[in-house]
This record gives sequence, structure tokens and C-alpha cells, in this order.
Amino acid sequence: MKIEGTHYRSIALNEDGWSVRIFDQRKLPWKLEFVNLETMEQAARAIREMWTRGAPLLAATGAYGLCLSLRDNASDENLEQAYKTLLATRPTAINLRWALDEVKAAAQGHQGQERINAAYNRAKEICDEDVEINRNIGLHGLPLLREIAKKKGGAPVNILTHCNAGWLATVDYGTITAPIYMAHDEGIPVHVWVDETRPRNQGALLTAYELAQHGVPHTVIADNAGGHLMQKGQVDLCLVGTDRVTRNGDVCNKIGTYLKALAAKDNNVPFYIALPYPTIDYSMARGADIPIEERSAEEVTYIDGLDEDGKIARVRLTGSNAANPAFDVTPARLVTGYITERGVLQDIENQAPQARSLA
Ligand code: MRU
Repeated sequence: MKIEGTHYRSIALNEDGWSVRIFDQRKLPWKLEFVNLETMEQAARAIREMWTRGAPLLAATGAYGLCLSLRDNASDENLEQAYKTLLATRPTAINLRWALDEVKAAAQGHQGQERINAAYNRAKEICDEDVEINRNIGLHGLPLLREIAKKKGGAPVNILTHCNAGWLATVDYGTITAPIYMAHDEGIPVHVWVDETRPRNQGALLTAYELAQHGVPHTVIADNAGGHLMQKGQVDLCLVGTDRVTRNGDVCNKIGTYLKALAAKDNNVPFYIALPYPTIDYSMARGADIPIEERSAEEVTYIDGLDEDGKIARVRLTGSNAANPAFDVTPARLVTGYITERGVLQDIENQAPQARSLA
């Protein structure tokens, strides 16, 4: 990803070889602020308070969080304790658990400095693999956009997305944005309808920011506008990310995704999910069993933005009580296809991966 022409990853090991640099995503797009994570507690806080977010990036941050903890204390007890602490930070995205399991497995069987090295090596691999996964999601998703572009004879391909499943939610490229960036780069005219994504506005703040950085035409819309645009024939394709897909193909993603899928079905708009394999939870049969994170009501009752002096400010929107379920489940029957690093799948259950490594 490029910000003002400079390439960054959303998470990176610092030159010291052990501390980790992230962006404070709570401040984007108003302020580009880098934060160093030096302890497991800092990593856990960054995840819990959403300085860093998005299922694959939670995985990468969790993986390094475990490394940081081992650096302080490489004992079995501490490994278990840190694993539990990090796992409890955000319950819905399965990627976090997957990455913690991977690093823990790499660490077990070693002691002391060797254990720390093994953990760091696996965390680095998880980050590099994520970049490669997203690049491949892009390569598999690109033909879909080419096909629509061909049918439209040069008119822009209108894609509707929800939340942020771009490079800010991953280590690089993004899941839904990889095919969009590739299409844009090869001259296919694309335009993205960006759901603002209340309550935290990941669409308006983060997706719009990264699309702008890449020069992709886009328009931010209120979350309620999508159905109307679909009825008017102004959406060719919905493309969203996910935090967990269960064995039967149910898709858990940011609250509001389900309503978009319903509107897409009613209007014959293809509804695609972009996901890496670590987002599939083969141990869970159906979406109804996924733990849905309940976040603070303050995310609904307050909103952050820039005040007239250009300072980040917070205002209250309502004096009433609020509820804040952060995710919902879109049933598999509403999904047209799953764009993965291994190809576009129609069915999750019968395509269990044979091996962990990339095909
Ligand atoms: O609460 P967030 O901002 O972490 O939610 C992010 C999403 O819902 C994304 O769509 C999902 O994690 C996929 S990211 C490639």
C-alpha cells in the first residue's frame, strides 16, 4: 500500500528486530500516526480498542503480541496466559485464534531464546503469507471485474462494499481491494460505493481513504442507500470481506452486511465475499454459532470527526441507551461466490484445504 507515494505495510517489524509498528487507525484519515508495540499488553490494547483492526490484521497483531510476551518470559505458563489474554480481545474474527494457534504451535517444542525465535519466525511468515494471499485473491477476483467491464462496454463497473476490507484490514493489498486495485491499474474503469459503516465508520474513514490514496473513483454513501442504488441498477457487484465463514458457507461480517445481501438478492446483484483460507472455521457448522462481539454503546451514542479548527473532536448523537452488536451473519444462500487465494468457490464445505501452506 502507498500513502502519499510511500510504500507501507499495515504492520511491520521494526529495525530492532523485535518491536512492531502499526498505524493508529482510530485517527485515520485525519492523522497518520505510527505506534510502536513493545509489550503483549500494548498489542492486546491495540486490538481491543481498535487501533488496529480487520480480521487478517488482528491475526498478524495477535501473532506478534504472543512473540512480545515470550520475549519477556518464555515459560509455558506465560505462553498460555498470553494466548488467553490475546484471544479474549476480540471474539468474532477467527483469524486471531488461527494465528495464535500457529505461533503457539511453532513455539512449543522449543525453550528459551529458541522458542522466541521460532515464534517470531512464524509471525513473520504469517505476515508475508497474508500479502501473498491477498495478491492471489486479487488475481482470482480480477476476471470477474473484467467480465462485467466487457459486458458494460467501457462504462464503469460499480462495486458496493461495506466496512473496510482493504490494506488497512490486512498486512497489504486488502482482500476486497486487491482485485479492485488490479482492475484499476490495468485500466478497467471501476467506481466503488463505500458504505459509511456506522457506528465506527470504517467505510467513510478507512476504505475511502485508501481508495483515494490509490486513485480509485469512489463515493461514500449512508448505510441505508445501498438498496435504493441496487434497485436503480447502479450496483454491478457487491464485494465484502468477512471475519469468519462457517462450514456451511454462512458469512459473518461487519454489522449491516446481511441487509446488503438481502437487497442484492432481491435485485439480482451478485454478492461476493473475498476471504483468505484462515477465515474459514471448519470446526463450526453454521453462522448462528459464531460469537458476535458486543461493543460499547458509546460507539453508537458518540461520533468522532474534525471540528472547525481541524482538531479531532467527539460529539454526542443521542441521550438514549444504545446497543452495539458489531457483526451479523449473512446466510450462505445469499452468497454468489467466495473469492479465495485458491480460486472462486461456490461451496465451502466440500473444499476443505488439504494443507495449511499456500497452494
Ligand atoms: O470491527 P472491524 O473493523 O475489525 O471489522 C472489520 C470487518 O468486518 C472486515 O470486513 C473483515 O474483518 C474483513 S477484513 C479483510
